[in-house]
Amino acid sequence: MIRVNENYLKLKSSYLFSEIAQRVAAYQKENPSAEITRLGIGDVTRELPKACIDAFHSAVDELGSIATFRGYGPEQGYDFLREKVAQVDFHSRNADIAADEIFISDGAKCDTGNFQELFANDIKIAVPDPVYPVYVDTNVMAGRTSDFDDGRYGGLVYLECNRENGFVPALPKEKVDLIYLCFPNNPTGATITREQLKLWVDYAKKEKALILYDAAYVAFIRDPEIPQSIYEIEGARDVAVEFRSFSKTAGFTGTRCAYTVVPKSLMVYDKSGNAYPLHGFWNRRHTTKFNGVSYPVQRAAEAIYIGDGPRQVKDLIDYYMTNAKLIREKMSQLGYECTGGINSPYIWINTKTDSWEFFDTLLRKAHVVTTPGSGFGKCGNGYIRISAFNNKEKVEKALDRIAAALK
Ligand code: MLT
Repeated sequence: MIRVNENYLKLKSSYLFSEIAQRVAAYQKENPSAEITRLGIGDVTRELPKACIDAFHSAVDELGSIATFRGYGPEQGYDFLREKVAQVDFHSRNADIAADEIFISDGAKCDTGNFQELFANDIKIAVPDPVYPVYVDTNVMAGRTSDFDDGRYGGLVYLECNRENGFVPALPKEKVDLIYLCFPNNPTGATITREQLKLWVDYAKKEKALILYDAAYVAFIRDPEIPQSIYEIEGARDVAVEFRSFSKTAGFTGTRCAYTVVPKSLMVYDKSGNAYPLHGFWNRRHTTKFNGVSYPVQRAAEAIYIGDGPRQVKDLIDYYMTNAKLIREKMSQLGYECTGGINSPYIWINTKTDSWEFFDTLLRKAHVVTTPGSGFGKCGNGYIRISAFNNKEKVEKALDRIAAALK
């Protein structure tokens, strides 16, 4: 008899964004003429930067000629991309990260979800609340929690993020081994200061804990004082893994490319306290389960670092940030308290009412899809998230409809 991994029975029936998609599809079926604007899932709508398209085309042409054809590439990614990443994303910020500490992959969702495989099952895990659901669900699947009860899984330490702490969690009162942090934050759009981040790095050092730092939205940081990488903080190399993505930076949600940084000085421990470099374990996992990102995609990703690529990427980000500003301003004018949208593409809105109810009001009365805050955790109830990823004209019209609906 084939038996199921019973941890899957603990999961809520569907992944948040699938549930939203189902509700929207049902509404659209009942109301086929409704023109629905999607400001829910953070999915990009603009075309890829020209530099990426050109690089893509010429890489495809290379595959079409016997002289330049390539088969399997290195699982960890081609050096041409790893070296640019190390140089531009880290060295230029005084962060000491080498090219061979960078693992190119097909997505930060996969990497943040898969990384927990490397750790023992009885570690103590801290997750922010609200939180990107992937961090929690993958630990549920792995059996690190008990059942879901009253909006939370037993066995996890929830780090509450709320308006009082500016959506930046305080250090846990109890000792934890693994900490998930995400800044600029998905879903709240909040950012963390250097001083606040240092507290976490110091905590992790003291407790021999590990921080999984998701920086997928780094490209949206405008304020030069805000750290872009956790490795800008002294000592972080020894306690943190960082995840980055080309999805939101360069419009790669459908193209798929990301990377994970695992410094060689980062140690993990066995039961007796013997230390091992984590880099070797992730390398082992990655080379066993993954065959690398395709050559044209890596060439397209490389293009954001060279020639006119950086300017084109900046234009793309500026475009979405104009939307973010419009959304923040309009929702504030309508009397809603907003977080995010300044150094982040997400605007986190205090609805002062049940999240799903507000979601339904906006869907039915304004034909706008948002994301209910409660889908990100208990502390998210009473909020919705609006994403800036859409075309400006659609965002403007959606905001007019929201204003009319909320009158
Ligand atoms: C989101 O909307 O939170 C993200 O698009 C989801 C993701 O990147 O997987």
